Amino acid sequence: MKRNQRKKRSSFLLAFIAVVICIVLGAVLAFNIDNGNTSDKSSSSDTSTSSSSLENESSSSSSESSSEEESSSEAESESSESSSEEQSEPSSSEEQESSSEQEEQTEELSPSGKPYSYYETVEPTYVDGVLLVNKTYALPSSYGGSNDEANYALGNLQTAAGEAGYSMPLISGYRSFDKQDGLYRNYAARDGKQMADTYSAWPGHSEHQTGLAFDIGALDDNYGETAAGKWLAENAHKYGFIIRYPKGKESITGYQYEPWHVRYLGIETATAVYESGLCLEEYLGV
Ligand code: DAL
Ligand code: ZN
Repeated sequence: MKRNQRKKRSSFLLAFIAVVICIVLGAVLAFNIDNGNTSDKSSSSDTSTSSSSLENESSSSSSESSSEEESSSEAESESSESSSEEQSEPSSSEEQESSSEQEEQTEELSPSGKPYSYYETVEPTYVDGVLLVNKTYALPSSYGGSNDEANYALGNLQTAAGEAGYSMPLISGYRSFDKQDGLYRNYAARDGKQMADTYSAWPGHSEHQTGLAFDIGALDDNYGETAAGKWLAENAHKYGFIIRYPKGKESITGYQYEPWHVRYLGIETATAVYESGLCLEEYLGV
């Protein structure tokens, strides 16, 4: 009986030990599995690392995009600056315009109606090599002086006139811008602007400022009917001159007939104009 009991106890003990071993093995197995999971986790951590790298890339790309945004925002800010400049520019140019308008309004006007400052920058006009000065085409106020070639030609003309029996004295030659300004203003004060405009040029618009024009003989409306005036009209071109403001061309030249006002062009051109029967504007086609 006792022997059987011992056997039972031994069997129970063996079974207990076996259960304990199973539990221990199970635990070890579970531990290994856990380790395996840990390594999986580690690889997942790698993934997570690479994902975090991706995040870094993406963050770097996002930082790039953010710097793009910055640069785009810089561009925007530049464009907003330039747009604010654009907005400010018109207002400043508007200011300039309004201030130049005010200057024009306050600046004294020349008899031509243009401000005197216009004659500081206007350029002389040459057509086919001929200096053209009339109510449309002006000279700068600084332009001018006596012209040796024209003076010499005038001497020849006067000599020839004298040989023909006509005295052809010089009445007026070169006149400066300021001189013409004073003359015109005196005539306008005496006869009114409308009348003065028919016989006196505005400053900057007189051929006398070129040094190439002369008033000779007599300042007489009937001078063209006199023998001296007729000789001048028929012979001036031989010495390089034309009667610049002929009868019948008043609406083109802008001036009344002036049989005493000659303009030097050189013999060739003066002869061509004379033979054409045209006034200078017509001859030049302006
Ligand atoms: N008598 C001319 C037009 C002048 O004043 O120039
Ligand atoms: Zn004249």
